[in-house]
Amino acid sequence: MSIHTPSSKGELRQKKSNKNEFVQLTRSPIYIVLDNLKSAYNVGSMFRLSDALLVSKMYLCGKTILPPNYKIKTTSRGTERWVPWEHRKSTIETVQELKEAGVYILCAEICSNSIDYKKIKPSFPVCLILGREYDGISPEVLDLADCIVSLPIFGMTNSLNVATTASVLLYELHQMTS
Ligand SMILES: C[S@@+](CC[C@H](N)C(=O)[O-])C[C@H]1O[C@@H](n2cnc3c(N)ncnc32)[C@H](O)[C@@H]1O
Repeated sequence: MSIHTPSSKGELRQKKSNKNEFVQLTRSPIYIVLDNLKSAYNVGSMFRLSDALLVSKMYLCGKTILPPNYKIKTTSRGTERWVPWEHRKSTIETVQELKEAGVYILCAEICSNSIDYKKIKPSFPVCLILGREYDGISPEVLDLADCIVSLPIFGMTNSLNVATTASVLLYELHQMTS
């Protein structure tokens, strides 16, 4: 195959481990908390991303749209079958529990005290928290953060899509673990 030829669907699938091998793989020391996400497409994108990076677990909190859901499946490509996940009623209690277990709490949000993503120095395991599309992470949850991280915006909008934010930050965190 030429290096310029994109892999076909079949070729991509052939490289994958079988189910038994896959469940034995060591997952990344990264957790994700979704704080009341209302877009099923965004939730699906998070599943696909979490599968790609072998995230340890996703916590879908509060009113976050849950599987099974057709719109989630559209963007997840069915990866909700492979990523450990759980619905929790309370974001704040979930984050408190993770914090008490020694997990570093990293909130993605643009705040006056946010740190640029290139400057963060989290310890692991880490939990990345992402906020609702319109109003962001709740202030009570932000208060629990060990660090608030932001991606710079140079254009006219004030924020990025939440799944886009997660992509950049998760690849950054993943690189720190390897
Ligand atoms: C669209 S934003 C929420 C709206 C935002 N608070 C506003 O005033 O426009 C949804 C979520 O995406 C994440 N997010 C979006 N852009 C971000 C950025 N530049 N830096 C860090 N997180 C960001 C945050 O987790 C945020 O809670």
